[in-house]
Amino acid sequence: MDREEILAGLPELLLPWYARNRRELPWRQDREPYHIWLSEIMLQQTRVEAVKGYYARFLETLPDIPALARCDDDVLHKLWEGLGYYSRVRNLKKAAQMIMERWNGEFPKTYGEVLSLPGVGPYTAGAICSIAYDLPTPAVDGNVLRVVSRLLDDPSPIDLPETKRQVQKRLEKIYPREAGSFSQALMDLGATLCGPNREPDCGHCPCRESCLGYSRGSAASLPVKSPPKQRRQEDRTVLILSCGGRYALEKRPERGLLAGLWQFPNTEGYLDTGQTLSLVEELGLRPREVLRETYRKHIFTHIQWNMKGVWLEVAEEGGGFHWLTWEQIRQQAALPTAFRQFWEE
Ligand code: ADE
Repeated sequence: MDREEILAGLPELLLPWYARNRRELPWRQDREPYHIWLSEIMLQQTRVEAVKGYYARFLETLPDIPALARCDDDVLHKLWEGLGYYSRVRNLKKAAQMIMERWNGEFPKTYGEVLSLPGVGPYTAGAICSIAYDLPTPAVDGNVLRVVSRLLDDPSPIDLPETKRQVQKRLEKIYPREAGSFSQALMDLGATLCGPNREPDCGHCPCRESCLGYSRGSAASLPVKSPPKQRRQEDRTVLILSCGGRYALEKRPERGLLAGLWQFPNTEGYLDTGQTLSLVEELGLRPREVLRETYRKHIFTHIQWNMKGVWLEVAEEGGGFHWLTWEQIRQQAALPTAFRQFWEE
């Protein structure tokens, strides 16, 4: 079989397998475009297990597009707290407002229109249009690239845009009428039997008979990736300032990394104890006692923060900070995981 024939045979192998083995996920209970859109945005760079709870909670609070379009930003950030990549939720609201204005609150129906929404790239547009509308629009991500590169024994590095474009084009040609099921079958195969970071479970795979990676024994060593680029390393000192059970928080600037979210005061570089105490005094506070130091790291897309957390009791509240109890922080302030993790120890 040549490559085209192998791909052409995929729907009849995958669709029956999907009907029997599909993962039951909260966003698979209906095909309401708002629900599918929300799930796909949440699933960008985020694991299925992490998304489940957030998805349900978000829809309870914001059940439709008009509710999202007029939602208060603090409520919105709170609903997203801990999911990461917060520009996603800001784009979600922007897109909802755009849908209200341009399409009277009705989710757009063509691939081009969906792709024009803020926060929606080709993968997400493909996923939404195939799942919600059965349009023949492949959703090609790392999972799907892995499946296809194994199936075709194709050593093209999957991080190259050209490889993705090729796969996209090849899949477009073979999309069946049940486009939504087919997209999700590919996702599920790529997340389970043909998943990342382990031996593929070819014994249970519906595609084994036609898979070149299986017949040639190359599946486990595919896909090929170009060597990774280094993330920029940034050392920071994070001040966890307490005063009788309340903690100093401030809002991050409205632009850039983690824009508009809350944070513990922090500064670039690792400060020693003397430098830390000087800084606290410069902030207008009187340090009483350094309680402890803890180290945490947080990985963003392009930067890694290596954080030294200094727990410090001060004599009185001040410094222009908001002083909140842990319970208030938990309930009211969207404190990103980078900072929240200091508590989870
Ligand atoms: N990853 C991205 N989209 C997904 C979906 N709809 N179902 C499961 N995993 C996914």
